Amino acid sequence: MKKLLTAATLALAGFALAGPPAPKKAGIESKDYKWNAQEGEKIEALKLKGDPKRGEEAYEVCSACHLPSGAGRPDGTFPQLAGQNSTVLIKQIADIRAGLRDNPIMYPFAATLTDPQELADVAAYIETLKIPHDNGKGDSKKLDLGKKLYLRDCQTCHMANGEGERGKFYPVLAGQHYKYMLRQATEIRDGKRRNANPDMVKIIKTYSDDEIDAIVDYMSRLEMPDASKGTKKKM
Ligand code: HEC
Ligand code: HEC
Repeated sequence: MKKLLTAATLALAGFALAGPPAPKKAGIESKDYKWNAQEGEKIEALKLKGDPKRGEEAYEVCSACHLPSGAGRPDGTFPQLAGQNSTVLIKQIADIRAGLRDNPIMYPFAATLTDPQELADVAAYIETLKIPHDNGKGDSKKLDLGKKLYLRDCQTCHMANGEGERGKFYPVLAGQHYKYMLRQATEIRDGKRRNANPDMVKIIKTYSDDEIDAIVDYMSRLEMPDASKGTKKKM
């Protein structure tokens, strides 16, 4: 009887945490889609000064999946977050909360952030974490092809070392796990990452699975120019 009760209580707790299902907002599949529309809590959070100290507390719930170091997992289930541009973090979390980027696993936890200030705080904290170097990598069999494609098609936005661009919401890719990026790049190509950048989609659309594999393997080996600091560059 006790066992039954425990299971029932757990099920109830899970249900309570799950709360209402994630909302669904029209994304890249809709013809009126405007990438990174300046609206909603994202705008509020971007205007605020994030407090890394308060953010550290808010991050506790996140660390269960993304790890206290922010390193995520090489198996690609959970992305590495450490050192990501705070603008990118705010956009991605706000998109997940608004139902523009589908992430049913994380949604209930993202929903626990109370307001734009907490969003700004947690992003400020994550950005202070150092980018790890032992991220998951590919099999290195097609690095020449990967490099050629990256330099031709991706570095204009993601930059030569995968450092991204804070002011334009371009993510840091240096230190990101191969398997996570493989899933994202494929979903971006196939229209399943609904908050994607249409200019990027246009390029990736022409890629085969093999080409995506090659390019993502190359990207998984990029390193920030100033590795000691992670990505502490200013706007
Ligand atoms: C139950 C596990 C889990 C928890 C807890 C969790 N996440 Fe995530 N998070 C994920 C998964 C899974 C993904 C990747 C989903 C995908 O493949 O699209 C992700 C993706 C992200 C991304 C996008 C990264 C990128 O490179 O675009 C951000 C930012 C993020 N999480 C921040 C957070 C924050 C902040 C918290 C705490 C409030 C949190 N996560 C809690 C599982 C989790
Ligand atoms: C026009 C600028 C641009 C170009 C060119 C571009 N990207 Fe991106 N990329 C972005 C932006 C912006 C995002 C974040 C999308 C969002 O807002 O959700 C992104 C996200 C990604 C992600 C997911 C990162 C994460 O943390 O989840 C991957 C993987 C990626 N790009 C791969 C590529 C590859 C491979 C190429 C070249 C074939 C490329 N990108 C070219 C702008 C660009």
